[in-house]
Amino acid sequence: MSSLKPSEIVEELDKYIVGQHNAKRSVAIALRNRWRRQQVPDDLREEIAPKNIILIGPTGVGKTEIARRLSNLTDSPLIKVEASKFTEVGYVGRDVESIVRDLVELTVNNLKVREQESVQIKARENAEERMLDLLLPPTGTTPAAAPDPAVDRPFDPQPETVTADPSATREKLRKLLHSGKLDQRTVDLEVADKSVPMVEVFSNMGMEEMGINFKDMLGGLLPKSTKRRKIKVPEAMDLLAQEEAQGLVDMDRVVKQAVEKVEQDGIVFLDEIDKIAGKHSGTGPDVSREGVQRDLLPLVEGSTVTTKYGPVRTDHILFIAAGAFHTIKPADLIPELQGRFPIRVELSSLGQAEFYRILTEPKNALLLQYLALLRTEGLEVIFTDDTVREISRIAEEVNNSTENIGARRLHTLMEKLLEDILFDAPDMDTEKVEVDVAYVNGKLKDIIENEDLSRYIL
Ligand SMILES: Nc1ncnc2c1ncn2[C@@H]1O[C@H](COP(=O)(O)OP(=O)(O)OP(=O)(O)O)[C@@H](O)[C@H]1O
Ligand SMILES: [Mg+2]
Repeated sequence: MSSLKPSEIVEELDKYIVGQHNAKRSVAIALRNRWRRQQVPDDLREEIAPKNIILIGPTGVGKTEIARRLSNLTDSPLIKVEASKFTEVGYVGRDVESIVRDLVELTVNNLKVREQESVQIKARENAEERMLDLLLPPTGTTPAAAPDPAVDRPFDPQPETVTADPSATREKLRKLLHSGKLDQRTVDLEVADKSVPMVEVFSNMGMEEMGINFKDMLGGLLPKSTKRRKIKVPEAMDLLAQEEAQGLVDMDRVVKQAVEKVEQDGIVFLDEIDKIAGKHSGTGPDVSREGVQRDLLPLVEGSTVTTKYGPVRTDHILFIAAGAFHTIKPADLIPELQGRFPIRVELSSLGQAEFYRILTEPKNALLLQYLALLRTEGLEVIFTDDTVREISRIAEEVNNSTENIGARRLHTLMEKLLEDILFDAPDMDTEKVEVDVAYVNGKLKDIIENEDLSRYIL
């Protein structure tokens, strides 16, 4: 669990997200409260429920981005779901518990990969020994005594090495392996045969909804299909190391850790929550919307979900809901759900000042991304300060005149602005291109002045 102070969390979020100070503060407090809860005596600890949050704000102002960065920053498992998907035709009654199942699945996989990485060194050592076994003739027989033309013995020991100590031969071979001299050789290896994915057919039929994993069930019954293949030594080393890594990871422990991590640190990001709120008129889609809210309630209030990794309690999972709430207000949610989301934060819509900062300040700023991409072509693109201000101004203008899509407008603008350079970069004789205000206007002016055109192109 992350022990970052709220101020530290905000400081980290500031590196990626411009403004939205209130939202950053709220999520930082929620995260810190979880850490605090861990320090509280046992009996009380169980009683303390997370203070869930509703992020209210128009599209493209950083709601999802805040949740994503928060999860990375604090290493909390995160799942993002559109609340509205549970109301879609054909999805009515779709089991909201699948949210938790997916989150556990995701976390198990992440932890497994991490564990596999942490045993890489040991895995490669084991793989090397197995590789030497494959390369070496079996002890006791010399190649001369048991010539097997079908086997491609990559290493033909000279007579004197055969008579010598077998372990010396092994070490000699090891050196060759390390120096890469055997890279062109092949070995015979049993590899998993992926060509019959017949079980996959079932996987989208909602089996997981019942907590049944068909593949696992059948996996034991079906013969493990493998295939003998001739493989080059380096690739075979990778395969063997992978296999060894899988063997070295203690899956029981990984599963236990994952479940605990989800229960204590998990974050569910419920997007488009406003789409499941509605006036309580009692008919039509409103019924299904309210139904989804009722379905969500036990999850948010705390219940136990059966997953294929065992029961998972949702009591301390943090729910961050988000929505634009244009015509609908949080008060239009059913009262029980409102009470479970005590923290409401509004995110501000973004204007040219923010756009300027978004283009230039964050670690992963859009402008820096384009500069880095074009640098790979040996092209240095220069944006003057005026240019960046002009792009920001245009972004705000287009957002006002067409539809306000927030910072996403910068993506469409930049792509249009740079399309020629992106296309021609590999063929340019120059090493430097300056994008100035005149260039921006040349590229974008006509489009901006024509509202219809803007709608289509930007
Ligand atoms: N305040 C901000 N600072 C930096 N980048 C931002 C900011 N707001 C949005 N962006 C960028 O804009 C894009 C969209 O943001 P995000 O996905 O967070 O939108 P959102 O608020 O979740 O919108 P929606 O309601 O449509 O889901 C992302 O690429 C994000 O990096
Ligand atoms: Mg979003």
